[in-house]
Amino acid sequence: MKKISLTLTTAALTLAAGTVSANCDPGEVVAKFSHVTGGTTHPKVVAANSLAERVNAEMNGKMCVEVYPNSTLFGDSKELEALLLGDVQLLAPSLSKFGSYTEKYGVFDLPFIFKDMDAAIRFTNSDNGKALLTEMDEYAGFVGLGYWMSGMKYFSANKTLNVPSDAEGLKFRVQTSDVAKQMISAMGASPQAMAFSEVYGALQTGVVDGQENTWSNIYTKKFFEVQESVTETNHQLLAYLFMTSSDFLKSLDKDTREQFMQIADEVTQAANLNVKAAEATNRANILKAGGTIIELTPAQRQEWVDTMKPVWKQFEKDIGKDLIDAAAGA
Ligand code: LMR
Repeated sequence: MKKISLTLTTAALTLAAGTVSANCDPGEVVAKFSHVTGGTTHPKVVAANSLAERVNAEMNGKMCVEVYPNSTLFGDSKELEALLLGDVQLLAPSLSKFGSYTEKYGVFDLPFIFKDMDAAIRFTNSDNGKALLTEMDEYAGFVGLGYWMSGMKYFSANKTLNVPSDAEGLKFRVQTSDVAKQMISAMGASPQAMAFSEVYGALQTGVVDGQENTWSNIYTKKFFEVQESVTETNHQLLAYLFMTSSDFLKSLDKDTREQFMQIADEVTQAANLNVKAAEATNRANILKAGGTIIELTPAQRQEWVDTMKPVWKQFEKDIGKDLIDAAAGA
């Protein structure tokens, strides 16, 4: 009896968190998809669940995808390692989390390099962007299946930020990205790298004063509840590498691999078409839930650009000037 009620509770929690639980049949190739985001309106949640729904319906008997959101299987410090060990087969980590594998992905983190998500999508569809998908295949065994956009990023803090000097002396949570760390230092603030699952607690207890993220993450992880306000800086892109390992791809027979790749590609296209609407919905959700959003005047925005853009120069050697120019011109 006890066991039954425990099972029901877990199932209810899992559904509430947006998991697609698949009853994989014997003989099906099982692909576990681990990610760190949550809620039901987040672009990554929607895309991962849509992938699972399509594979499980269209490849029934051949392949099955199980989605584990909210860092329930692996958090973002462990998921890349887990992919290499074969403990998980599909991931969509932020492009800011590959610093130990390639410096070139720093291009996606450069502040104000993309005017908006459309420019970022143009860059990812270019030859340079496509080449970066398989950049880590040879030496790390990672294969990019596509880029999933998440949104532009905004700063939040426990005090109002109108101009970068308002951030002086504050501590900001960042992802494990050297570019992000330098960008925060350029504002006269201190960066603290931290796993995504720890951010809410760190903001709530004052371990950090602020963070930078998309509307979808700020809403679905309730960061706005423990911050005074969010400033619409639009300073950086958040996008994901929807990925697998070359070992997993090679383990699939040709038909299964081709059908899976086709679905993966279609899900990627659809995800990127829907992302702006998801971001707009979650921005509105923050306001509806009582959060405060600060809009910048053109002069204030220029101050953010002038403070953070010099960071590009510091990474020119690591990333490559040609790649930076290509992204900036997209
Ligand atoms: C973060 O760590 O802030 C984000 O990369 C989380 C995510 O996957 O959107």
